[in-house]
Amino acid sequence: MNLKVLYVCSEVFPLLKTGGLADVSAGLPPALQALGADVRLLLPAFPSVVAGVTPEGSTLLVPPGGSPGLPEGVGPQATSAHGPTPWLRAGRITDSGMPVWLLHAPGLYERDGNPYLDEQGRPWPDSAEQFAWLGWAAALLGTGLDAGWQPDVVHGHDWHSGLAFAYLRELARTAEHRPASVFTIHNLAYQGVFNAGLRPRLGLPDTLFHLQGLEFHGQINFMKAGLKYSDAITTVSPTYAREITGTEQGCGLDGVLRQRQAHLHGILNGVDDAVWNPLTDPLVQPGFDADHLQGKAQAKTRLQTHMGLQPRPDALLFSVVSRLTEQKGLHLLPAVVDELVQRGGQLAVLGSGDAAIEQALRDCAQRHPGQVALTVGYDEVLAHSVIAGADVILLPSRFEPCGLTQLYGLRYGTLPLVRAVGGLADTVVDCSLEHLDDGSASGFVFQDLDVPSLLAALKRAFALQRRPADWRAVQRHAMALRFGWARAAGEYLQVYRSVLPT
Ligand code: ADP
Ligand code: GLC
Repeated sequence: MNLKVLYVCSEVFPLLKTGGLADVSAGLPPALQALGADVRLLLPAFPSVVAGVTPEGSTLLVPPGGSPGLPEGVGPQATSAHGPTPWLRAGRITDSGMPVWLLHAPGLYERDGNPYLDEQGRPWPDSAEQFAWLGWAAALLGTGLDAGWQPDVVHGHDWHSGLAFAYLRELARTAEHRPASVFTIHNLAYQGVFNAGLRPRLGLPDTLFHLQGLEFHGQINFMKAGLKYSDAITTVSPTYAREITGTEQGCGLDGVLRQRQAHLHGILNGVDDAVWNPLTDPLVQPGFDADHLQGKAQAKTRLQTHMGLQPRPDALLFSVVSRLTEQKGLHLLPAVVDELVQRGGQLAVLGSGDAAIEQALRDCAQRHPGQVALTVGYDEVLAHSVIAGADVILLPSRFEPCGLTQLYGLRYGTLPLVRAVGGLADTVVDCSLEHLDDGSASGFVFQDLDVPSLLAALKRAFALQRRPADWRAVQRHAMALRFGWARAAGEYLQVYRSVLPT
């Protein structure tokens, strides 16, 4: 019998994406299917998601908390006294054929743009309800709402799915069907913390609201619910799995994670070969591979021209494709730009986010016209162009649960320059002499989150450029590395099996 997995998440590439979470929701489920699992996604019915799904088959009502047959005080209250009951619509993602449940709830998801933030960058005022309903729908499906498809495993991602595990615990007391549950942390820094006064509305009884439950400094913490009430926890790299059990990276939840250490697994993310393959990438033509780099040279010239950089083939072209946030350590970048340019380098940045980081980078671009370029915004096509055309991709992250762009960089022969944290430490090997010697070098790695360390790594990149044969050898090794989803999917299946009843 195929293992049935309900995969609960808030975004999926290419329908809705704010970051790597969406890439994972697109890459991991098909890899699980390829290993024989029967996977269905559960997502809120945001407009761009609805537009990319072909409805198929049934609709199921999602009874609010307190409905007949459900335990008292558990589950969110109806959103509007007069609105219809939320419902689940079955379908398939039109392009990939992946089965999906879409959760429709009157007034909660019918809005365009970022699923978490309004146009001013503030959290939506009803964020708690949006994702409480997602968790509730997951818990109901997990305990048999759809008699025809009862999941063996509920696998939720990030805080948006956290309440699923609390509701499941309550529903499982009386339900006939109790699934195993797995919660994956993609970023511990975003926890979904809300006012305790919302408890009655969200249907979170007192039995859940205490230090050993989902209470966090007097507030409701969705992430903590996932950590406390799931059978197993995973996160997206082995190093991050260790880091988050310490105070520095634990974001206040390290104690909880230490308690659950025996059930905490680090599983490195993969790369979706259908999207990020330099030979077949439709956004980067002509394609290239390690033996035929002409296409990469052309991509560099195109990128330089497109971003207003001087089209110098010999300029060492550094790049950033990122959310511009504290997490990514990009506040360090402006301080090294003058030296980078002085040494003959160029910098191409694509990103958006923090206004202060944006402004500092804009100032750099103004100071160095033709050598430093910034494009503010989110642009999938340009992201591929940058990763294909640059020589180096920068991730000086303060913390990085996994990081995907360094993996994309490796695949495209764009050497990652990274800080040794989280998934970056697990995937990039510095060009030190010993690593050059044994053939394991794949990029540039620095330790401390400060300007001198970043600068030293930049200098190593320039030094390697002056040794073209070594550069080629490192690039060839980087391009041959494979971080496939098949391996990750195999590890997830092992975790599922470890928590299934025997
Ligand atoms: P995070 O999820 O923390 O933002 P990841 O490295 O895991 O970091 O994933 C980021 C994803 O978002 C990658 O697919 C990257 O290409 C994409 N991305 C980031 N910023 C932009 C941007 N400004 N335009 C297009 N894609 C972007
Ligand atoms: C988060 C992390 C990032 C990770 C991604 C996918 O957004 O910040 O490091 O790669 O999730 O797991």
